[in-house]
Amino acid sequence: MKITWLGHAAFLIDDLIIDPFINGNPSSPVKANEIKCKYVCVTHDHSDHLGDAVEIAKKNNATFISIFELASDVSEKGVKTVGMNIGGPANVGEWEIRLVPATHSSTKGSPIGFVLKKDGKTIYHAGDTGLFMDMMLIGEYKLDLALVPIGGYYVMDTEQALESVKLLKPHSVIPMHYNTWPVIKADPQKFKKLVEEQTGTTAIILKPGEHFNL
Ligand code: NI
Ligand code: MN
Repeated sequence: MKITWLGHAAFLIDDLIIDPFINGNPSSPVKANEIKCKYVCVTHDHSDHLGDAVEIAKKNNATFISIFELASDVSEKGVKTVGMNIGGPANVGEWEIRLVPATHSSTKGSPIGFVLKKDGKTIYHAGDTGLFMDMMLIGEYKLDLALVPIGGYYVMDTEQALESVKLLKPHSVIPMHYNTWPVIKADPQKFKKLVEEQTGTTAIILKPGEHFNL
């Protein structure tokens, strides 16, 4: 499985893109019209996550997957949607997709994270979230990879993200949602050092446009 970070909370994982905030993202290495995918997953309706999702879904005839209320709104724009809720799973193509809680805010439906399974691999995208104890339950999915925010202010900071890794116990973790703007400034090397000193998890730091093979 090929996981490419597109900056902020946007990841392209094989044929699935999550939180495609591309054209307005100062750290994005690509433009929205260059993205090729079959599935578009969005954690919540804030503009730095919903981003270019509708344009990308329409251009690719892709399926948009989110919490029910947001999917209902997007379906009115002529996009194929799967509107689900916390629990799941939904089976779309080769993917098994679950929504899990996130402690954050949103306008249309609850903010969520995704647990995505394909080819025997399990990936957790935390969305925007603070630290919460139920991450321990999300860890029961035996995560091969967790994608967690570390930028603080709106989401977990580096120390809280370290605590999240202790609860999630993933094999590997990639930090996200930092250094897009000054307000979410964070040092990913400090996060990596803390994680690898205090947990059994490997921290992988990507630059926008770089990928990791899982
Ligand atoms: Ni948000
Ligand atoms: Mn955000």
